[in-house]
Amino acid sequence: MIFRNRGSSIKKTKTLSEDELLKKYGLNSYEFTHKDKKEVFVCSKYKELDLIELDQLLQTVGWSRRPIRRVKRALEYSILVVGLWRHDEKFPRLVGFARCTGDGVIEANIWDVAVNPVYQGLGLGKELMNYILKELKRIGISKVTLFADAEVVSFYKRQGWLLEPKGTKCAFWYAN
Ligand SMILES: CC(C)(COP(=O)(O)OP(=O)(O)OC[C@H]1O[C@@H](n2cnc3c(N)ncnc32)[C@H](O)[C@@H]1OP(=O)(O)O)[C@@H](O)C(=O)NCCC(=O)NCCS
Repeated sequence: MIFRNRGSSIKKTKTLSEDELLKKYGLNSYEFTHKDKKEVFVCSKYKELDLIELDQLLQTVGWSRRPIRRVKRALEYSILVVGLWRHDEKFPRLVGFARCTGDGVIEANIWDVAVNPVYQGLGLGKELMNYILKELKRIGISKVTLFADAEVVSFYKRQGWLLEPKGTKCAFWYAN
């Protein structure tokens, strides 16, 4: 997996004190900013998600709604759930999300990668992916897969993901 630094447009910041970051977003959270924006963003795997807010975020990218109760269980069964927050003292806002399933030891799958359209194109998606891969690596997982929608394949390719040859290695089954 290739980890690239976004260079000039994304900057790691320390707007929050270590204590504040820990208290508000939990251990190993990652704070950064965009050079043209005043906002501070934080990736966190521990800050609790409001499932209604998550549902709203996923609707902004046009995905069909899923019953909240099922989403709750899916998150409970996921090995890593990451929220990307636009920091605010009182009301941090969920602007990005992704989660991983897997055995927790050898392999993981990434699902539901989404950034609110208002914040797309700023490098947030890339920071979110880097954070996820770093966290997976931290727990020793080195093989990560995902299914990309056709229109975002180059988003992943740009970050060093390898494409499986068309139709030769993947198999799908959908319940009707
Ligand atoms: C895909 C998505 C997560 C990207 O998030 P983002 O914050 O806009 O992405 P970034 O700004 O970090 O872009 C990183 C790089 O990927 C490129 N990129 C971003 N979206 C892209 C897309 N849809 N297609 C191709 N390239 C894309 C950017 O130009 C940028 O290139 P650079 O590094 O050369 O500058 C976001 O567009 C999204 O939520 N889309 C809707 C949901 C979706 O399709 N999710 C993926 C499911 S598989």
